[in-house]
Amino acid sequence: MARTVNQKRDTTENILHFPSNKSKFLKKILVAGGSGFLGSHLCEALLAADYDVICIDDLSTGRIENIKHLLDLPNFTFRRHDVRTPLNAKVDAIFNFASPASPPAYQADPIGTLFTNIVGARNLLELARRRDAVIVQASTSEVYGDPLVSPQREDYFGNVSTIGPRACYDEGKRCAETQFFDYRRLYDLKIKVARIFNTYGPRMRPDDGRVISNFIVQALRNEPITIYGSGLQTRSFCYVDDLIGGFMRFLGTSPDVTGPINLGNPTELTVIDLAERIIRLTNSKSSIIHLLPAVDDPQQRRPDISRAAAQLGWCPHVDVEDGLLSTIAYFDRALRHAAAGN
Ligand SMILES: NC(=O)c1ccc[n+]([C@@H]2O[C@H](COP(=O)([O-])OP(=O)(O)OC[C@H]3O[C@@H](n4cnc5c(N)ncnc54)[C@H](O)[C@@H]3O)[C@@H](O)[C@H]2O)c1
Repeated sequence: MARTVNQKRDTTENILHFPSNKSKFLKKILVAGGSGFLGSHLCEALLAADYDVICIDDLSTGRIENIKHLLDLPNFTFRRHDVRTPLNAKVDAIFNFASPASPPAYQADPIGTLFTNIVGARNLLELARRRDAVIVQASTSEVYGDPLVSPQREDYFGNVSTIGPRACYDEGKRCAETQFFDYRRLYDLKIKVARIFNTYGPRMRPDDGRVISNFIVQALRNEPITIYGSGLQTRSFCYVDDLIGGFMRFLGTSPDVTGPINLGNPTELTVIDLAERIIRLTNSKSSIIHLLPAVDDPQQRRPDISRAAAQLGWCPHVDVEDGLLSTIAYFDRALRHAAAGN
């Protein structure tokens, strides 16, 4: 009998609704960036909802171990491929998650990041056009830059540096959105654009460089927690299962629901509050130290999710402490595994 992926263990409403959301018209779905942190959870959710999944990834920041448990499934295929090169596949829908996402990763090869987001998006849009496929873009709250309004609504145009060290990512993502909406205007393509706000959970890389993974790894090692700047800058953190639930709902919407739609958790925390919670939840002996602020670091991030609520019937459910506890458990296992030389 064919193996299937178990229904995800999470109890959130969004996750439990996956199978009933399955579209009658979509069968085969391509996930570009499918072996990364978010992409691998998305592949799982799509398989659990009975879709056939083709995962495309160049393994630059993603890892095979994220999808190892899927590789033998009959309805899952993995192809190593860089989206900057055109591709072909018989698919009914495409998710574009292919891009490095953490600042150290995307700044390591800034021109590569820019081209992945511009040329990669173009290649996937062309594929969608040839196949008349739905195409969903994983955009980002970084399109708002260092916002001057809070919370950020989708009609806010942002405050973005075109020349700073974050611009390769921010402008790449903005240009990808531009292409999506031009393809819609020119070719009536079935596009869907979601702007993801900071999301965390199992399968983030320990060396990823994002604030949650940094703090948890430092706390588990009882090393000082490093905060860039005062720590009074705010972030809102969405647990991965909630986010994937939003994407699954988006996929099931009619073609007139194009976005952009913010997906994130509006609960705002200061970075210092986050550090203190992680120290408490890990029973860590870590102290907190402050380093110079990062260049162009946004001071405030909080999504207005009223559009997601109205158009997708979606809102996040996972409480930040519950999400942190499961992420801490994941990193604890990963660090022990690495220490044992596995
Ligand atoms: N995690 C977040 O908080 C967050 C926030 C906003 C937006 N996003 C977006 O979501 C997507 C996934 O992010 P993530 O957090 O899972 O990061 P990730 O680095 O774990 O995943 C990105 C994946 O894309 C792959 N990739 C990169 N360049 C590629 C290329 N040229 N060709 C093929 N594959 C390529 C990587 O190998 C990796 O598997 C990204 O597009 C990111 O911009 C994430």
